Amino acid sequence: MSGTDVFFPPTEFAGSAHVGSLEAYRDLCRRAEEDPEGFWAGMAEQEVHWFEKWHHVFEWNPPFVKWFAGAKTNAAYNCVDRHLETRGDKAALLFEGEPGDRRTITYRELHSLVGRFANVLKAQGFKAGDRSVIYMPMVPEAVVAMLACARLGITHSVVFGGFSAEALKARIQDLEATLVLTADGGWRRGKEVRLKGAVDEAVADCPGVKCVVVLRRTGCEVTMAAGRDHWWHELEEGVSDECPAEALDAEHPLFVLYTSGTTGKPKGILHTTGGYLTYTTCTMKWVFDLKEDDVFWCTADIGWVTGHSYLVYGPLAAGATCVMYEGAPDYPAWDRWWDVVERYKATILYTSPTAIRALIKQGEEYPNRHDLSSLRLLGSVGEPINPAAWEWYHRVIGKGRCPIVDTWWQTETGGILISPMPGAVPLKPGSGTFAMPGILAEVVDFHGNPVAADGEGFLIVKRPWPSMIRTIWGDPQRFEQQYFSRMPGNYFTGDAARRDADGYFWILGRVDDVMNVSGHRLSTMEVESALVRHPAVAEAAVVGKPHEITGQAVCCFVTLKQGSGSNDHHALAQELRQWVAHEIGAFARPEEIRFSETLPKTRSGKIMRRLLREIVTSHTVTGDVTTLEDLGVVTKLAAQHDED
Ligand code: WTA
Repeated sequence: MSGTDVFFPPTEFAGSAHVGSLEAYRDLCRRAEEDPEGFWAGMAEQEVHWFEKWHHVFEWNPPFVKWFAGAKTNAAYNCVDRHLETRGDKAALLFEGEPGDRRTITYRELHSLVGRFANVLKAQGFKAGDRSVIYMPMVPEAVVAMLACARLGITHSVVFGGFSAEALKARIQDLEATLVLTADGGWRRGKEVRLKGAVDEAVADCPGVKCVVVLRRTGCEVTMAAGRDHWWHELEEGVSDECPAEALDAEHPLFVLYTSGTTGKPKGILHTTGGYLTYTTCTMKWVFDLKEDDVFWCTADIGWVTGHSYLVYGPLAAGATCVMYEGAPDYPAWDRWWDVVERYKATILYTSPTAIRALIKQGEEYPNRHDLSSLRLLGSVGEPINPAAWEWYHRVIGKGRCPIVDTWWQTETGGILISPMPGAVPLKPGSGTFAMPGILAEVVDFHGNPVAADGEGFLIVKRPWPSMIRTIWGDPQRFEQQYFSRMPGNYFTGDAARRDADGYFWILGRVDDVMNVSGHRLSTMEVESALVRHPAVAEAAVVGKPHEITGQAVCCFVTLKQGSGSNDHHALAQELRQWVAHEIGAFARPEEIRFSETLPKTRSGKIMRRLLREIVTSHTVTGDVTTLEDLGVVTKLAAQHDED
């Protein structure tokens, strides 16, 4: 085994793991590769409840795939009903609100909450095929909202509460949603995040929205539009909690989740039901080694795919007990997370490198104040984990006992594709190690040929898997073009990777114009489009700049319109940062705005972001500049940094 640090699975861990040796892992892979139909049919039967069985395991007409066609199932039934007999009194959710309010919700209680709210939606006239947008804080009712929609076949789209009214509006419109589920607000760092106000602003331009249901969370004042807006608790009065789950087609659209692509317009990633449930539950065992008495804590917000697959659908379908925490990690102090781990005796913690780096900065005394001995496994997702963060996570949080699963995946993949199986695979810090069974991942060159050991290339997947993206909502052409045009028949991830001599995958980052800020995907074009909507801005070019905590930070190069009258660049920079936060959301707020007379462009007029990236990274330009129209611009921009 090459590489300096290799961490072998602890004997005790491996001894009781679902997959406890490299041989067992390889055996699963071999079976999945040789007989994908038999393998996935077996997994689907084992992990998911079906009202009716399929007639085909999968049908692959690149780029389109159907899994378990002909079968009938229901995601909410799988996440709740089928546990009633064996796990009715087991906690499904251990909720802690930021102000300190706590609720334990058993599977039986969750069943009742979901059934009642599904009946509310039914009474409002909603049914399978309708679309809802969920814009809620991290409270149990957000999970109830998702599951109630799934129960009836209403396709939901959760919009992260950090997105602005503008972003919310664009998503409601693209999805032609008729139902919006929200709350008055949520708690973050002791302050109210007002959600209903943003909904009002967004829905004003969405005449298709017939109904807005509002949960009372913070108690702040809201305006209710007569006929359209209803209080959640009022609609529930006297409503039965018995609501049968619809037997839906395996390919019924479960949810659409918007994510950033390489244009200004976010894309609605469509996931369906049967294959998604099969894959997310499988990975709960393979990656998280989930056992009956585990307490699983995924810190992601339900507004991101990690929250969908590993806070809601995967763990609940697998019958797990999940911790759900509403607020910020530093409220009221930087030991809040460790307090939560200790209180609920979390055994598995799944979080992001950006959070780990922020925690490292505060010092070890915060985790050291708490008993973290319940933890047995740690996970990481969202971006490559740097060696220093890995080492700290392993030593300070895991006390050297807990394996770390570095999980690589995407909104589009629905579930984890590359990750160690913690009882089987020796870890190399910073590497996602190997692909899951049935995931034929490869690192290839421009022509699609596998690169030699240690070579770098594009990460692709050569065969469909059950939880893969089905299409981009309303835009099948963009779907094909984005993911299947470069290497026809293969899924193109948009990430670069390296494979070492032992076959380990090392993810190197995006090859397109997508940034990764605090583990959140953000397209350069999205920020650029937001900037040019400002009256003073003529042109904008945006690049990701390396950042100590957030991985990347948003850096904007802006040219101003003639006579825009803005001489006070400092004030204008502030205004533009605020503008972007308003147009997209606070998490997209640029770290830096640089004003320039022109932007470097190719002869065909394309902005050369590569050069700008070099400027913000190294402050000099070394690459090929022969296609650049005006070299002087680059030198000036690079020099400007030194003047600052
Ligand atoms: C990046 C998040 C390295 C990658 C689940 C991918 C990672 C994008 C890792 C997807 C990891 C995610 N190591 N990079 N373990 N996990 N990424 O859609 O660039 O929000 O393409 O899904 O995050 O981000 P998304």
